[in-house]
Amino acid sequence: MEILITGGTGFIGSYLSKRLLGLDHKLTILTRNSQKVEAPNIVINSIEQLSDNQSFDVVINLAGEPIADKRWSEAQKNKIISSRITISQQLVEFIKRSNHKPQLFISGSAIGYYGIEQSDQSYDETYNSAENNDHSFSSQLCLQWEAVAQQVQDLGIRTCILRTGIVLGEQGGALAKMLPPFKLGLGGKMGTGHQWMSWLHIDDAINIIVKCIEDTTLNGAINLTAPKPVTNKEFTQTLGKVLNRPTLISMPEFAVKLLFGQMGEELLLSGRAITPRKLLDCGYQFKYPSLQSALEDLLRK
Ligand SMILES: NC(=O)c1ccc[n+]([C@@H]2O[C@H](COP(=O)([O-])OP(=O)(O)OC[C@H]3O[C@@H](n4cnc5c(N)ncnc54)[C@H](OP(=O)(O)O)[C@@H]3O)[C@@H](O)[C@H]2O)c1
Repeated sequence: MEILITGGTGFIGSYLSKRLLGLDHKLTILTRNSQKVEAPNIVINSIEQLSDNQSFDVVINLAGEPIADKRWSEAQKNKIISSRITISQQLVEFIKRSNHKPQLFISGSAIGYYGIEQSDQSYDETYNSAENNDHSFSSQLCLQWEAVAQQVQDLGIRTCILRTGIVLGEQGGALAKMLPPFKLGLGGKMGTGHQWMSWLHIDDAINIIVKCIEDTTLNGAINLTAPKPVTNKEFTQTLGKVLNRPTLISMPEFAVKLLFGQMGEELLLSGRAITPRKLLDCGYQFKYPSLQSALEDLLRK
C-alpha cells in the first residue's frame, strides 16, 4: 500500500515506519528535517506540496509538538495545539481535494481525552468527554484534535482515532525520561501515587496500528492502552522490582507542581484508568498484557 505518515520520524512513528516498510508498504513521510528520513522512504516537507493526483491508500497523522518535553507556558500550549491542528487540517484539505481518496485515515489523540479528575472508575470509548465539562488542557486539546479528524470520517472515509496511553519503549517516550533516577535508586512515586497510569508496550502500539490498517471493521475512537492500567504507586514498585532498585524517594505533590507546573499536575499527578474495550471486543491479543512482562522485555534484553 501507499502510506502517508506525519510524525513518522518521532518515537512511535519510527517504530511504525520500520514495521510498515518490513510489510512491503511504500511510505511518504512528512518532516521538517529531511535528513531524518532514509531511503527508500519518500520525504515531503509540506502537505501542500502534494498534488491532487497523488494517491495514498492510508494516511497516518502522528505529528505535533511534544506534550511532555517542556513546562506549559501559554506560548508552549499554543504550539502544542497549533502544530496538531494545522497539520491535521492540512491533511483534511488534501484528502478533500485529492482525486484518489484514501481508504483509511488514522489520526492521533491521547487518553488525556478522558479528563484528569481523580476517579477509580474505568473509562472506555463510550465515554463522551464533551458532555462532562472537563476543562483540563489535555482534554480540550484532544477534543479539538479529534474534531478535525472527524471531518475525514464525515467524508465517508474509515477513520481510526488513536486515544494513546503512556507508550513504553526503549528509545524515547516516557520510560526513557523515568529511567535515569530509577536506575540510580532515586525513583519513587509521584504525589499520593493513587493516580492511574494507562500504559502500553510499543510493540502492542505498532501491532494495533497495523491491525487498524488490516481490520476494516475497526472505526472511530480506539483506546491504545493495555488491559490492566496500574496506579503510579504500582508502576513505581514494578519498575523498581524489574530494575532491582529501591523506590523509596517519592516526590511530593508540591515539588511536582513547582518543578513542572500545569504539565506536572495533569500528566504526572493525574490519570484515569482507561480500558481498551474496542480492541478486546475485536479479539486483539495483547503481546504484553501485564506491566511486569512489558518492563521485563524492555529492560532485561
Ligand atoms: N508517546 C506517547 O506515549 C504518546 C501518548 C499519547 C499520545 N501520543 C501522541 O501520539 C503522537 C506520536 O507520539 P510520539 O511520542 O511518537 O511523538 P514525538 O516523538 O514527539 O514525534 C512527533 C513528531 O511530530 C513532529 N513535530 C514535533 N514538533 C513539531 C512541531 N512543533 N510542528 C510540527 N511537527 C512537529 C516531529 O517530526 P519532525 O521533527 O520530523 O518534523 C516528530 O517526529 C503524538 O501526536 C503524541 O501526542 C503519544
